[in-house]
Amino acid sequence: MAQLWGGRFTKETDQLVYNFNASISFDQKFFAQDIRGSKAHVTMLNATGILTDEEKDVIIKGLDSIAEDVANGSLAITAEYEDIHSFVEANLIDRIGEAGKKLHTGRSRNDQVALDMRLYCRDELVETKELLKQLLTTIHNLMKEHIHTFMPGFTHLQKAQPVTLAHHFGAYMEMFKRDYSRLTDIYKRMNVCPLGSGALAGTTYPLDRNMTAQLMEFDAPSLNSMDGVSDRDYVLEMLSAFATIMMHLSRFSEEIIIWNSNEYQFIELDDAYSTGSSIMPQKKNPDIAELVRGKTGRVYGALTSLLTTMKGIPLAYNKDMQEDKELTFDAIDTVKGCLALFNGMIATMTVNKDAMKASARNGFTNATDAADYLVNHGVAFRDAHGIVGQLVLYCIEKDIALDDMTLEEYKAISPVFEEDIYEAISMETCVNKRNTIGAPGPDAMEQVIAINDDYLNSLQ
Ligand code: ARG
Repeated sequence: MAQLWGGRFTKETDQLVYNFNASISFDQKFFAQDIRGSKAHVTMLNATGILTDEEKDVIIKGLDSIAEDVANGSLAITAEYEDIHSFVEANLIDRIGEAGKKLHTGRSRNDQVALDMRLYCRDELVETKELLKQLLTTIHNLMKEHIHTFMPGFTHLQKAQPVTLAHHFGAYMEMFKRDYSRLTDIYKRMNVCPLGSGALAGTTYPLDRNMTAQLMEFDAPSLNSMDGVSDRDYVLEMLSAFATIMMHLSRFSEEIIIWNSNEYQFIELDDAYSTGSSIMPQKKNPDIAELVRGKTGRVYGALTSLLTTMKGIPLAYNKDMQEDKELTFDAIDTVKGCLALFNGMIATMTVNKDAMKASARNGFTNATDAADYLVNHGVAFRDAHGIVGQLVLYCIEKDIALDDMTLEEYKAISPVFEEDIYEAISMETCVNKRNTIGAPGPDAMEQVIAINDDYLNSLQ
């Protein structure tokens, strides 16, 4: 047991208490951030005259050597230390002696952990944005490729109207664009520096909080020291945005699973992104999509769990907050992993254009356009709706599509129909004439793709 406290205690900590209380098994994840924060703190302590140049140099060298040894494996982070902060400080004192004992001047573990967590989340947010950008680029390329790939659009999972695959993917493009912009917004609010908040009430040392904020590329120091140590809103916001990303990925996964099924065969997943069955030799399963869908639950769980943890905590720091870490780390790793795998999965899948087109052709997806044809020839829409309903019933009985009916058959139901009905209800017409912005027609899609080109180029 290596603890940073103990002077006022007359007994050793019970081992079970120690284990229950310790966080090193998980907070070692922000070792790099802890070192970075300590270096900034010491640099500022020196600039404000609290530490001498020599003390600063020896502490920074010591911190660098600890970082190096952990990286090269010669120094292990072990359970002997209560948390990562104790590990760094104890090792520093071991290595450089007296000067090491000055590192914690004007600092508390409360503002230290608040800083480390913020630095960690900030780094991970940037990485998540990069993965989202890669996914957006993949979807964008698929959209460009499939402007003329017809498929049924669905409502209630019933065939509704013909669309294109570019249009369908375009819906996900918009969802992930919103996710990306949510992360950008969250970053702005997250980017304030709590270091210098002390335990809760600041310190009496003349700390230069602007300087530490600047050294670590924060926009500003936090403006209330109690809030500085006890704010976890930025984690909640991030988890909420992550839960939404997972919800989007899960919906998309559900479609991939359906499209990849034997019944649909709209797509085929690449062998490298599929798995087999131990008993059924013919199987090629969409496990990755299923796992992404399944892992959505744990990210929702992290959000719900932290909201619940935070709801009863009086100001300022309380140990409950240590519970923010494991589930947040897990959610971050889950979202990043799912984004990367989902991206690879859709980038490598094969699209079966013929199956999609045949499916769009067979489900009366052009019925609305047949009604519109009648309206354009003077029939009131409600009457047109009824007439086309009769046509559909007739086709169902004969097991044919609207396109397969003869003109005599059409005329038997309504004399308004003429030879040009076939062109009016062809799938090409149905899609290609829908060209208001946001619709699946090729002109509208080209406009949206051009907007998305600019959008992707604007992402740094
Ligand atoms: N491991 C603690 C946490 O994650 C660090 C802060 C400890 N502060 C304290 N007063 N015990 O929250």
